[in-house]
Amino acid sequence: MLIAEKENETVITEFIFLGLGNPDELQPFLFLLFLVIYLVTLTGNLLIIVLVAADEHLHTPMYFFLGNLSCLETCYSSTILPKMLTSLLTGDRMITVSCCLTQYYFFGCCIAIETFLLAAMSYDRYLAICRPLFYTSIMNRRFCFQLIAGAWINGLIVNSIVVFLLAQLSFCGSNIIDHYLCDLTPLEKLTCRDPTLFKLIVLLLSFIFTIPPFLLTFSSYISIIASIITIQSTIGRQKAFSTCSSHLMVVCLFYGTLIIVYMFRDTPTMRYLNKVFSIFYTILTPLANPLIYTLRNKEVHKALRRVLMKFTIVLGNCP
Ligand SMILES: *[C@@H]1O[C@H](CO)[C@@H](O)[C@H](O)[C@H]1NC(C)=O
Repeated sequence: MLIAEKENETVITEFIFLGLGNPDELQPFLFLLFLVIYLVTLTGNLLIIVLVAADEHLHTPMYFFLGNLSCLETCYSSTILPKMLTSLLTGDRMITVSCCLTQYYFFGCCIAIETFLLAAMSYDRYLAICRPLFYTSIMNRRFCFQLIAGAWINGLIVNSIVVFLLAQLSFCGSNIIDHYLCDLTPLEKLTCRDPTLFKLIVLLLSFIFTIPPFLLTFSSYISIIASIITIQSTIGRQKAFSTCSSHLMVVCLFYGTLIIVYMFRDTPTMRYLNKVFSIFYTILTPLANPLIYTLRNKEVHKALRRVLMKFTIVLGNCP
């Protein structure tokens, strides 16, 4: 069981972030950079949510998933960036233990929900491309809603367990977090008790909860690519690929950086690079998703034009 190792040390109530380890002169520059990233992320994702809600042509499962993904990414960047921005601005890098656990809880939930949503989205594309005859009967409103609800419920449950167990470990000794957010790896190092059992449980939970959506996403794309290759006409092939290429880019970015960060998380030489890659999946993924869709997807372009048109007509009729 959990062994009390450092019983005599005082339990700490506040952590200090080391942040990116940047020199102080860079602080204003980084503040501006991340502020712009945050504003663009919010605007882009809100734009997608508004478009999906306002344009009837986008009332299809694929765009419902996209709208829900944008909601999620708005929450995702809002769990990380506001705290990071205030510490860059004020130089105050303290965070209380309960705030830190709360931040980890929401951050962990967002990542877990994102893996499920990406899996649901690739399954949707798999059905549309490889099983077109059954698409509308399987991917109906109800099933779509169930997949989305399942993603949120699973994500919330698994992280409630992890954070509950993490809080039991309590923290003492050093209170320095060598990161810019409360992630599991830096937190595990600061616990009073031996975290071996905790690590084992987390490993088990991540196998149960992240390997299935990952495999579903991966196998969906293998089938999609295999079936696109067999399409004879170039135009047909391009058309089939264009409906899933934006999503494939988002999937690759998310899993690619996540895998790199978690593979190298315990090698000391990779510590700095690890933080840099963390920026990719914590900060740049929520930014990239709306950019990829609004810049590359023709349906979204058309919807944007229609919604703008409606908007100008409404404005034009104002007295
Ligand atoms: C999320 O999914 C539900 C169920 O399919 C859908 O009704 C809703 O419009 C979606 N939300 C957004 C913001 O797109």
